[in-house]
Order: sequence, then structure tokens, then C-alpha cells
Amino acid sequence: MKKVAVLTSGGDAPGLNACIRAIVRTAYYYEISVIGIKRGYRGLIEKDYCELDPRRVGGIINKGGTILHSSREPRFKHFEFRKKAFETLKELQVDALLVIGGNGSISAANIFAKEFPINVIGIPKTIDNDLYGTDYTIGFDTAVNNAVDAVDKIRDTTISHERIFVVEVMGRDSGFIALDVGIATGADITLIPEYPFPIHIVIQKLIDSYKKGKTFSIIILAEGVAKAQELASVLEQKLKDYAIGGIRYSVLGHIQRGGSPTAFDRNIASRFGAFAVERFLHGEKNFMVAYEKGEIKTKPLEIPFGKVKKPDLEVFELTKKLTI
Ligand code: F6P
Repeated sequence: MKKVAVLTSGGDAPGLNACIRAIVRTAYYYEISVIGIKRGYRGLIEKDYCELDPRRVGGIINKGGTILHSSREPRFKHFEFRKKAFETLKELQVDALLVIGGNGSISAANIFAKEFPINVIGIPKTIDNDLYGTDYTIGFDTAVNNAVDAVDKIRDTTISHERIFVVEVMGRDSGFIALDVGIATGADITLIPEYPFPIHIVIQKLIDSYKKGKTFSIIILAEGVAKAQELASVLEQKLKDYAIGGIRYSVLGHIQRGGSPTAFDRNIASRFGAFAVERFLHGEKNFMVAYEKGEIKTKPLEIPFGKVKKPDLEVFELTKKLTI
């Protein structure tokens, strides 16, 4: 009987449980057994794992987080600990390791696969959607919807009090969440790290809007650009005469990463998981699952290594065209 191990690594993302469930159930359908590694790469180093069977993954498709727990394990950066991890997999007689992860985890998986004779399969997840080589990563849609819900609520206060509101959304080094949230909430200004927008232009734009009769504004700020508090305090100094109800800010933080995954995330996570197992069965090695132009495919595991995925400039330009 073939055997695979699965781990979730890096920041949790809604849809991880749906993916684990799909891996386990597809594997059992083809008579492959599955080991769940706890807390990402840490579980490999510390030999912390459990057997996963189809019953064990029942009732989790609608749950956020990950039943396997997750971590960003710094020791995995060192060869001696990767060797330990390999020894665990050897002891377990595992034929492939499935890593559900984002940038850091998939890069680490690529290094691991090059150093040791183990088939490593990457499945893309991160709410940031910034993994090069795939149009989509598990969790992004839910994070965007969580943020949109929050901004819709903040909008009520913004309009009632005629304020300027800065809302900081996640995206460590990237603006994918901010862009989609900015468009979906009709934000007046969307600031993302990939296409910098000088502060004097932000200020001028707010003044112009005010002069045209707009008495409130929402700014969506990707965390990779600046802290909401800092931006709000600069605006406070410069826009005393224009912000009728004053300036406020809100940092949405981990609210975006939690909660029940959207139908899209449950579906894509299930399809990614099942596809990974089936490609493994077909004998494919050291690949990542990728989503491109609506199609699920495989790509070599090293594809994202050292590369940066950028949002389309056109989409960014749209955020400017749609404001008044
Ligand atoms: O990578 C996902 C992400 O949520 C980023 O958007 C954010 O910068 C980071 O993780 C936060 O990580 P932590 O939960 O460790 O604070």
C-alpha cells in the first residue's frame, strides 16, 4: 500500500481543512494511506504525527484553521533539521510529502526535494494570494470576503459622520487582498506596495473629492505599504480643513484569516487536494499544483522560487477610474 504524508505550514488560511479532507478521502479511494504531520515542518523534526482516515476528516469542510495545526518553523532553514525531517519520513516509509503552504513553505519544500530522495508536492495556500506560478491560493477568497464585510460596516460610520477612514488589510508584501477589497467596497483610494502612490497625491485626491462635494472617503491600505495609524496621523495634520467628521483608522488583522471558508475556497481546496493525489498516483514527482486561467495543472516545484507575483497594473488602474 502506498503512503503519503500531509502538513500545513505558515499562516493558516480558510480552506485548509477542506484540502486535508480531500487529500485523505481521495487517497483512501485509491487505497493510499495518509499520515498527518502536526504543526507544519515542526512535526517532521519532532516526529509528531497522526494517522488520518476518512472518518477523522468528517465535519471539517466548513471549518477555518487547520486540524493539523500550523507553524513557521525556523529550524527547517537549517540542513541538520531538514535531515531529521527526512529521517522521520523514511521511518514512516512515506512515498510523498504533500505541503500545503505559501511562499516560505513551498520554497522550503523545493530545497528539501532537491536535497533528499523524497517526492514533495506543493499545494498553494495563503490568504495573500502572492505565490508566483499560480493565479490562486487557498484562502484568498474568504479573506477578501471577510474584509469586504468589515469595510461595509465601517462605511456606515464613515458616511454618517462624514469622515475619512483608513482601513488596513493584510498582505505582508503584497496588495492582492487590498486591490480586491478596494474594488468590491468602492473605496476611494487603494494603496498597495507593488504600485506606490506618493502621499502628496493621496492628499490632493482627497482635497479634490471634497471640493467636488464628497464628504467622506474610504482608503484601503495594504499592510505592506504603511501602518494605518501612521497614515491617519499624516492625513490628520494635512486635512484639518477637509475632514468634516475627522479621520479614523481600523486594522482588520486576523479577522480576515479566520472563519468558515467561502464556497469557492471549499471547492478549489477540495479540487487541489484531490488533483495532487491523482497526479502522485500517475507517478508525477516534485511538482506544485497551480491554477491558471481557470484550469488546475501541475508545475515544477521550483517555479515560484525567488520570483515575485504582482497584481495586474490594469486592475490597479481600475481602482482609480472607479472613484469620483
Ligand atoms: O501570509 C499571510 C499573513 O496573514 C499576512 O497577510 C500577514 O502579514 C501575516 O500572515 C501575519 O502573520 P502572523 O499571523 O504570524 O502574525
